[in-house]
Amino acid sequence: MSVLDEIRKPVEKEMDEFESYFNRTMQSNIPLLKIILNYILRRKGKQMRPLLVFLTAGLNGKIAESTYVAATLIELLHTASLVHDDVVDDANERRGALSIKALWNSKIAVLVGDYMLSQGLIISLEKSRFEMLEIVSEAVKAMTEGELLQLQKSRKLNIKEPDYYKIIMSKTAALVAACTATGARSATENSDIIQQMKEFGENIGIAFQIRDDLLDYETNGLTGKIVGNDIKERKLTLPLIHALEIASSSQKKKVMAIVKKKKKTKDEIKEVIDFVSASGGLEYAELKMNLFRDKALAILDSYQDCDYKNSLKKFIYYTTSRNK
Ligand code: IPE
Ligand code: IPE
Ligand code: MG
Ligand code: MG
Repeated sequence: MSVLDEIRKPVEKEMDEFESYFNRTMQSNIPLLKIILNYILRRKGKQMRPLLVFLTAGLNGKIAESTYVAATLIELLHTASLVHDDVVDDANERRGALSIKALWNSKIAVLVGDYMLSQGLIISLEKSRFEMLEIVSEAVKAMTEGELLQLQKSRKLNIKEPDYYKIIMSKTAALVAACTATGARSATENSDIIQQMKEFGENIGIAFQIRDDLLDYETNGLTGKIVGNDIKERKLTLPLIHALEIASSSQKKKVMAIVKKKKKTKDEIKEVIDFVSASGGLEYAELKMNLFRDKALAILDSYQDCDYKNSLKKFIYYTTSRNK
């Protein structure tokens, strides 16, 4: 059994039901849309966000119908954001296969993403889950702001460590926080608990994104992404930001000259990767990631032992050690 299967155990039934719930929203009578939605469904992701919604709901009370609405809404928005992100990042691969943008084109990818976003709005309204829609809409707003901030910074290449945290807080952690906040909200109305669960998710989300950024430096066939892709895209992430921070000015100049280039050779990308490794940039990012991981674990510690808590603990460790 894989670690993720083990983590899923306490909410296995719910995750299966979620899946059919989600599949129903990914339908259309328009032939082209039908084909693309099926393509997306066949290459589903890790579904970590719905998993987090169910586990947090269970941790705080009883899983309810609103838990399913939240999980579906979030996975729809997440999937839409990836389809759009591959347009923004000009990325040809996603989930180990061609991206929608690569297989069809950007115009189609934008519209398919919009379709999924509107399906999310529709299910929330159908079920009158305004509280869920409110929490998640805030997160989607933050995601857009985060992506824009990142674009702006990559144009100027002047990103510092605090900017980095601001970007990943918005583009990734806000939605993960929406998972834990909606999960809690579906089980309790206690606003202190919901707030604490939101912070729990923020810490997981930041750690998750730092791990994701570290994966850009690791050769592996699982992610469906290419090593050094962030560097290629002029996306400065924590390992490189730190390495630049401590570099000599001549080193910095040399590396920045490569990063700035529109077209980079394999050797140039390798040079940047080697520079980051040699400067301890990877260890530094890992250290920071573990600080956020430990903050999330500390929040979890205030709960009594139960299967949900156990799984959430494993979820956090999985998030920070995953290879895909
Ligand atoms: C990828 O998220 C986008 C980031 C926020 C880094 P996931 O790694 O959860 O993507 P899937 O859904 O499993 O493909
Ligand atoms: C993922 O961001 C998309 C969002 C969080 C909206 P990235 O561009 O950093 O992630 P990958 O590497 O494409 O998954
Ligand atoms: Mg992006
Ligand atoms: Mg991307």
